[in-house]
Amino acid sequence: MAVNKLPQAFDVEPMRLADVDAVMAIEKSSFRSPMTPQLLLEEMGRDWAHIDVVRDRARWAVVAFSNYWIVADEVHLLNLATHPEARRAGHASRLLAHIIETGRTRKCRFVTLEVRRSNAAAQRLYRRFGFRPVASRPTSSTPAQAIETILAARLDRW
Ligand SMILES: CC(C)(COP(=O)(O)OP(=O)(O)OC[C@H]1O[C@@H](n2cnc3c(N)ncnc32)[C@H](O)[C@@H]1OP(=O)(O)O)[C@@H](O)C(=O)NCCC(=O)NCCS
Repeated sequence: MAVNKLPQAFDVEPMRLADVDAVMAIEKSSFRSPMTPQLLLEEMGRDWAHIDVVRDRARWAVVAFSNYWIVADEVHLLNLATHPEARRAGHASRLLAHIIETGRTRKCRFVTLEVRRSNAAAQRLYRRFGFRPVASRPTSSTPAQAIETILAARLDRW
């Protein structure tokens, strides 16, 4: 049997217009209330918004994406998802490392985000990157037990 010994190569880079369908496919398979393509396009047009993707260079396929804002001295992470077939391969970690580096370069002091208390996978990922809970609140549109935890990581301690 032929074995492909080429190392897999992944790039973290800004999302392109041609990636809309691939990012929407990840969004739809990752969230119960996915954003619409129109919202994604609007987000791409905002000066303060960043949407980065992890691209599998060999297949030219998007395997993960993140959407974050940089406002004043804060990075706020709005969205992070990996294609279900590409999870546990370090892609979300790649994106988080990139976001943290971008925030440090832009002299930001914090990265903040909101995550469901029940989302064990994401909670574990963020804690590995030094995020700690700073507050929690119920989400508005879901049952009372769906609590969002606000996590923050300080960039001046990295
Ligand atoms: C959470 C999510 C983004 C993780 O993406 P990923 O590319 O699989 O993450 P990584 O491979 O970088 O995982 C890094 C670490 O996070 C933790 N982790 C990730 N997925 C996990 C899971 N299913 N169960 C437990 N821990 C998990 C582990 O510590 C993992 O390290 P390990 O594989 O060495 O044990 C992905 O599961 C996802 O897209 N979920 C749906 C969308 C979502 O909930 N996004 C977060 C919104 S706040």
